[in-house]
Amino acid sequence: MEEAASIPLVGLTSWQALVEISKLKKGQKVFIQAGSGGVGTFAIQLAKHLGAYVATTTSSTNIQLVKSLGADLVIDYKKENFATILKDYDVVLHSNKDPKVLESSLLVLKQGGTLVSLTGPPTPEFARQIGLGWHIQMLTGLLSMRVRKKAKKLGVDFKFLFMRAEGKQLGEITNLIEAGKIRPIIDKVFPFEEVNEAMSYVETGRAKGKVVIKLD
Ligand SMILES: NC(=O)c1ccc[n+]([C@@H]2O[C@H](COP(=O)([O-])OP(=O)(O)OC[C@H]3O[C@@H](n4cnc5c(N)ncnc54)[C@H](OP(=O)(O)O)[C@@H]3O)[C@@H](O)[C@H]2O)c1
Repeated sequence: MEEAASIPLVGLTSWQALVEISKLKKGQKVFIQAGSGGVGTFAIQLAKHLGAYVATTTSSTNIQLVKSLGADLVIDYKKENFATILKDYDVVLHSNKDPKVLESSLLVLKQGGTLVSLTGPPTPEFARQIGLGWHIQMLTGLLSMRVRKKAKKLGVDFKFLFMRAEGKQLGEITNLIEAGKIRPIIDKVFPFEEVNEAMSYVETGRAKGKVVIKLD
């Protein structure tokens, strides 16, 4: 049950970013940021299943973990700057909150490549898709103007993703897990009484895979 509970958020996020939005294909190159995190540990495995070449960032303590999940190129973000190493990537799965990292992530893409951001800024396209009114669309337009302009200049696509529930995709994910193509990565399981400790642990930003709360 813990393993099952760890999957939907990261599984759907990875599926929607890599399969639905960027249509990642065999032989393409994808850069997955924070490969040792909840999303990263799932996304690396999904990208490898799709036949892509995977580069990722993590710190030295988690290099073995991300390699065991299939990462082809691992960059220790505390020692090296990915923007000076990676180039001509088809897809970037962006999950960093620093605006400077967002802009340098665009530079690793080749022309026509796609950056899918999980941390924003949200775009007017996203606001329209989920049915938000014109004033929110305008606001998202302003918030994302700088990065959209930069992406346009570079000839790449900037997309914002906010994961949505989708039963059919969960079914596809279940098949991959049952076939042993993707394994759930759980860091810690906390009892319900320790929900505050669980949240504090997640907030440290050091989790390796998912953190689960168990209800007895
Ligand atoms: N938009 C959406 O629908 C959506 C869905 C899911 C998640 N998110 C967002 O996506 C982000 C990632 O979520 P998550 O649950 O995967 O995070 P997480 O599990 O908390 O990530 C923790 C991991 O990130 C690594 N890390 C920390 N700083 C890093 C850096 N500068 N470069 C590379 N790796 C770094 C850490 O490795 P070390 O300990 O080695 O540093 C740790 O293993 C969060 O901001 C989350 O809110 C958005």
